[in-house]
Amino acid sequence: MGAALALLISLSYARTAPDDQVNVPVGLPPVPYPADNPSTPAKVALGEKLFFETGLSSDRTVSCASCHKPDHFFADQVALSKGIGGHDGDHNSVSILNAAYATHLLWDGRSITLEDQVRYPVAHPREMASSKEGVVKFLSGEPSYGPLFRQAFGDEAVSWERVTKAIGSFERTLLTGNSAFDRYQSGDGTALSPAAKRGFELFRGAAGCIQCHAYSQAHPFFSDFDFHNTGVSWGRSSDLGRYEITKAREDKGAFRTPSLRNVAATAPYMHDGRMTSLREVVDFYSDGGTKNPFLDEKIKPLNLSERDKADLIAFLESLTGDVSYRPHAGLGPISALPAPPKEMPGRAALLQRPQVKSPRHDGALEPHP
Ligand code: HEC
Ligand code: HEC
Repeated sequence: MGAALALLISLSYARTAPDDQVNVPVGLPPVPYPADNPSTPAKVALGEKLFFETGLSSDRTVSCASCHKPDHFFADQVALSKGIGGHDGDHNSVSILNAAYATHLLWDGRSITLEDQVRYPVAHPREMASSKEGVVKFLSGEPSYGPLFRQAFGDEAVSWERVTKAIGSFERTLLTGNSAFDRYQSGDGTALSPAAKRGFELFRGAAGCIQCHAYSQAHPFFSDFDFHNTGVSWGRSSDLGRYEITKAREDKGAFRTPSLRNVAATAPYMHDGRMTSLREVVDFYSDGGTKNPFLDEKIKPLNLSERDKADLIAFLESLTGDVSYRPHAGLGPISALPAPPKEMPGRAALLQRPQVKSPRHDGALEPHP
């Protein structure tokens, strides 16, 4: 069974990482590409334009980037992201950086591919409140898209499948790595402070965080992509997380383990954004989560000292890294474009970019001859 599954996975994911399209940051393995959607610069460029396209929402005010903000590590800074008409969504936005590697997407794991995931925000009544048909109709009526679809897919026909393939291709270029912790792991002993080093020992030792926020050099994601009940909203919300999908009793109140990369810069926390600081999160774990009949057995009171808590936080802060996104990096043909810089911009550099409403820069996506 295991072997068959492994074979299936290796067949459906061709590891043909086009190194010229995205520099995989220090600390990350090559990006897996689905066999039926190999990446090309033209698809990435189209996907980027679609990601910033407010026309994907019914009232043309909300784009994917409204809730996955490039200058907030592709997450949002509010507890519940706002969709059309300023309505609150159901959940705290998840960063899509490194989503390319996740084996389950969304807090309840509803989706397992980036292509499939696109339909959820598009159709959600308080997010984009549109439909596959609405999106195809809108894009078919926008003359600027025809040439981009032709470059990406051979002709100008707009279809939902093409839309999702382009967005998925763009998302696979959105990576984060090269944090102080990654540099420490790749041999730079000075990259971490003594407090962060002690915090890492706690994280993988006595505090047991690594049991769910899985980390190894082969799996450097700080998530097992699996579902656990920590009791976060138990008794205070009707949202039962993974249970809503599987209807299995033991999944009640279980949510997908989030990655911890850039966590210090992506408050608020948890699926409903109810915690506002890392201190609050660490206190929550120290006290053993919220008791409930389905609490994961790995969650127990840790009774951490003040110093332990400070050390864990110092470690979590060392996970803030670089972001691979550079506007228009996917524009083809690659040989006609200046080579992307080898150094990836850190957060500071990203924030220094001129803040435009959409990084689409009018006209810059004109088709190349
Ligand atoms: C109104 C805000 C909003 C909009 C618009 C939005 N998202 Fe999201 N996104 C979220 C929230 C909230 C979550 C977590 C939702 C959940 O799990 O229920 C999420 C999760 C995701 C994830 C899962 C990441 C992971 O690791 O699990 C992906 C991928 C994603 N969004 C892509 C997109 C794309 C592509 C679009 C545009 C078509 C989009 N989002 C539009 C708010 C939004
Ligand atoms: C039993 C598995 C498990 C263990 C052990 C665990 N976590 Fe978590 N962690 C999760 C899950 C699941 C969530 C999301 C819970 C939710 O939103 O309902 C989470 C959320 C978080 C978040 C919020 C991230 C965000 O972006 O919202 C942080 C920070 C965090 N954990 C840190 C830790 C630390 C530090 C430890 C060790 C003291 C730890 N975790 C131990 C499973 C676990």
